[in-house]
Amino acid sequence: MTEHVELGLARLSDAKRIATMSRELIEHGLGWSWTPDRVANHIRCADTVVLAAKALGGVVGFAIMYFGEEDAHLNLLAVSPLHRQTGIGRRLMRWLERSADFAGICAIHVEVRASNRSAQSFYRSLGYRPVGLWPGYYCGREAAVRMSHTLRSMRWSELDLNNAKLTSPLK
Ligand SMILES: CC(C)(COP(=O)(O)OP(=O)(O)OC[C@H]1O[C@@H](n2cnc3c(N)ncnc32)[C@H](O)[C@@H]1OP(=O)(O)O)[C@@H](O)C(=O)NCCC(=O)NCCS
Repeated sequence: MTEHVELGLARLSDAKRIATMSRELIEHGLGWSWTPDRVANHIRCADTVVLAAKALGGVVGFAIMYFGEEDAHLNLLAVSPLHRQTGIGRRLMRWLERSADFAGICAIHVEVRASNRSAQSFYRSLGYRPVGLWPGYYCGREAAVRMSHTLRSMRWSELDLNNAKLTSPLK
C-alpha cells in the first residue's frame, strides 16, 4: 500500500464504518456490541478519543481510547487487512500515547482475546506487557489477556511541590 494515510479525530459520519470494522475484525464470533450508535456516543464523549486513519477519505484503521484520571483504557483498535503491517497500528497507538502522556496519564491498559496472538505480539512490540488473564471476559466464551504500558511512575500531584521545583523536566 503506497496510499497516503492520515490520522485525525473521527467524525460522526465515520461511526458506521468503524462499527462495521469492529464487528468484522474484532468482535467476530462474539456478537456485535460496538454498534454505530455506541461508536457515535464515544465520538461525542469528552473523555474518549476516537481516532481514525484515513486513506483517500475512507477509514482504514481506528482506535478508541478512554482517558481516565490516571489511567487510559484502549477499548478498540483495528486496521483493515489490506493496510496491515505498514505501521498504521503503531501510528494510531503512538498518537494516543502522546496524548495520554500530555494529559498526565500514568499507564495504558488493553484487553486482548487470549487467542489473538498477533495482536499480543503487536502490543508487545510497543512496550505493553501481559499483567493478567481474565477467564470468560468475552461473553463467557473467551479469556482476555490484560496488557499494560507504563508511561510514568508518579503524577505531579503526588510530588512534594518544593521537590518538584528542583526536579521539573521543564527546566
Ligand atoms: C493488531 C493490528 C491493529 C496491528 O496493526 P498493523 O497496522 O498491522 O500494525 P503495524 O504495521 O503498526 O505493526 C507494528 C509492529 O507490530 C508487530 N506486528 C504487527 N502485526 C503483527 C502480526 N500479525 N504478528 C506479529 N507481530 C505483528 C510487528 O512487530 C510490527 O513491527 P514491524 O513492522 O517493525 O515488524 C492489526 O493486525 C489488526 O487490526 N488486527 C485485527 C484487530 C485486532 O486484533 N485488534 C487488536 C485487539 S483490540
